[in-house]
Amino acid sequence: ERISRRHIKCRGDIDMLKVPLLAIYESLIPPKEEKEKQMQLLTSLEKLVVNEWPCARLCLFGSCANSFGVSNSDLDVCLVHRDADIDKAEILLKLADRLQSANFQNVQALTHARVPIIKLKDPVTGISCDICINNVLAVVNTKLLRDYAQIDVRLPQLAFIVKHWAKSRGVNETYQGTLSSYAYVLMCIHFLQHRDPPILPCLQETKIVTYHEIVDNIECAYFDQVENLKSFGSNNNESVARLVWGFFHYWAYCHDYANTVISIRTKSTISKRAKDWTRRIGKDRHLICIEDPFETSHDLGRVVDKYSIKVLREEFERAAIILQTYPNPCEKLFEPF
Ligand code: CTP
Ligand code: MG
Repeated sequence: ERISRRHIKCRGDIDMLKVPLLAIYESLIPPKEEKEKQMQLLTSLEKLVVNEWPCARLCLFGSCANSFGVSNSDLDVCLVHRDADIDKAEILLKLADRLQSANFQNVQALTHARVPIIKLKDPVTGISCDICINNVLAVVNTKLLRDYAQIDVRLPQLAFIVKHWAKSRGVNETYQGTLSSYAYVLMCIHFLQHRDPPILPCLQETKIVTYHEIVDNIECAYFDQVENLKSFGSNNNESVARLVWGFFHYWAYCHDYANTVISIRTKSTISKRAKDWTRRIGKDRHLICIEDPFETSHDLGRVVDKYSIKVLREEFERAAIILQTYPNPCEKLFEPF
């Protein structure tokens, strides 16, 4: 049945959904004051850190810096220490102690997590924040996402709506086997790279490299002068409504889960066999495969298990059916699960 639905044409009146979907997008954009508060918190954290470790700096990453942040998101902060061989746990414990003394609330050092972090809440701005150490790849992939977002406004529009849908439907919980926000944004970029004509280029495939860093022995190189690409998608006039429908239609009926990996790095789908992602290795089952653009051995879908893949695919299908058939799909689409 899924195979036959693949050929369903988009409903004729799809563009009437443009106005309500854009209204949802606008309502999710954080107000200017929120950015100011985030900067205020970053400055006070940086003072405290530099005081203790003069050669350390703080960088923002994640949704507060990649331009895919909705209102009231947590702040993701990375402490970058020049010395790569530092004892992260030791620094985190010491920093947690200093933060507590400086009256930050709910300070917790999670030193045994896969990515060790400190969690805290700032009583002044009310913002919650995670601090990790030397996670420079995350800072770099944050910049890549931000650069893509500059090229065509339909990317942030689509990604905000998809993230909002995922949070409403409970499928944005990596600890329960569903996907991270980062994974959803990569799925949106891949989708827009494959429209006909394409709405986004592939920044890592261009011959000209304008940004180059080697991070944890991984070469991160791409074309980052995106102001020159602002008209890239102008031959495609699809509305955000058609794209939202197309996104869910793709993940419900068109994606070849059994055989392919999506890769924004190469602007293509790669075979699972080529990446040796065909079988379960340890906990990684590779049931939906999303290649990290820099850490190419990292499958963002590795958190998905045999139960959550079913949940995810049913949710993609539910969204596609609602968008295809409901007279007023918006409310139903984002209905809390
Ligand atoms: N990240 C990563 N690898 C992952 C998950 C996350 O490198 N497997 C990094 C990315 O830099 C990402 C950041 O961690 O931007 C934060 O991830 P996530 O919380 O999924 O995304 P946010 O954009 O912060 O989304 P939200 O608004 O839901 O917090
Ligand atoms: Mg975040």
